[in-house]
Amino acid sequence: QARINIAIDGPAGAGKSTVARHVARELGYIYIDTGAMYRAVALHMNRRGISPDEPERAIEEMKQLQVELIPGEARQTILLNGEDVTELIRTPEVSLQASKFAQIALIRETLVHMQRQLAERKGTVMDGRDIGTHVLPHAEQKWFLTATVEERARRRYVEWQGKEQITMEQLIKDIAERDHQDATRAISPLKQADDAMLLDTTYMSIDEIVQRMVKQANSIL
Ligand code: C5P
Repeated sequence: QARINIAIDGPAGAGKSTVARHVARELGYIYIDTGAMYRAVALHMNRRGISPDEPERAIEEMKQLQVELIPGEARQTILLNGEDVTELIRTPEVSLQASKFAQIALIRETLVHMQRQLAERKGTVMDGRDIGTHVLPHAEQKWFLTATVEERARRRYVEWQGKEQITMEQLIKDIAERDHQDATRAISPLKQADDAMLLDTTYMSIDEIVQRMVKQANSIL
C-alpha cells in the first residue's frame, strides 16, 4: 500500500501531538514531533547560558550540538548530544525559550533539513508550526488544528498538574505570548497552509479527531 506524509500544524495545546501519535499508530506510520527539536536546542542554549538575544552565539553553538530524534512505538525519544532529554524539555520555561530560539534562521534551517530527511521515505505524521507551509509543502494530507486559548490552557493545565507549579492564568498568558511570537515571526510563521484542512478541536475528543484523520488518509490511499 502507498504511504503518504501527513502534516499537522497549529498553535500550542491544540492537541497536535496526542492526535499525531494516535494517527501514526493506527496507520503504522512514524510520528515526528518537530517541537521537541526546538525544545532540545533551547535546553542546550539555557545550559550554556546563551540567550535568544545573542543569535551569533547561538549560531556558533549549533556547531557543537547534535539533536537526534528516535521515533518509537509509543513515543519518540529525543537525544541532545547523546543524552536522553525527552522528559526534561517538557517545562513551561523551555516552551517559551524554544519559541524564542525558533526565530533564528540558522537554527530553523538545521532542524528543517533533519525533518525533511526523516520524512523522505513517507509514512510519517509530522506535527509542528510550519510543516504544511514550509517543511513538507507537498505532504499528501495537511491539517491545521485550533482551539480557544482557554481550552488549550486547560489541556496544558491537566497535563502539567502535579509536575509544575503553574496557574491557569499564567498558562493562558504563556500560551497567548507563544502564539503571538510564533505567528508574527519573520521566518516560517505559524500559518494555515492554503491546502490544509482546518479543524477546531475545542469541542472534539481526541478519538473523534483521530478517526476523522485516519478516514481521510485511507480515502486518498
Ligand atoms: O510544539 P511545541 O509546543 O513543542 O513547540 C515548541 C516551540 O517550537 C513552538 O512554540 C515554536 O516556536 C517552535 N516550533 C517551530 N516550528 C515547528 C515546531 C515548533 O517554530 N515546526
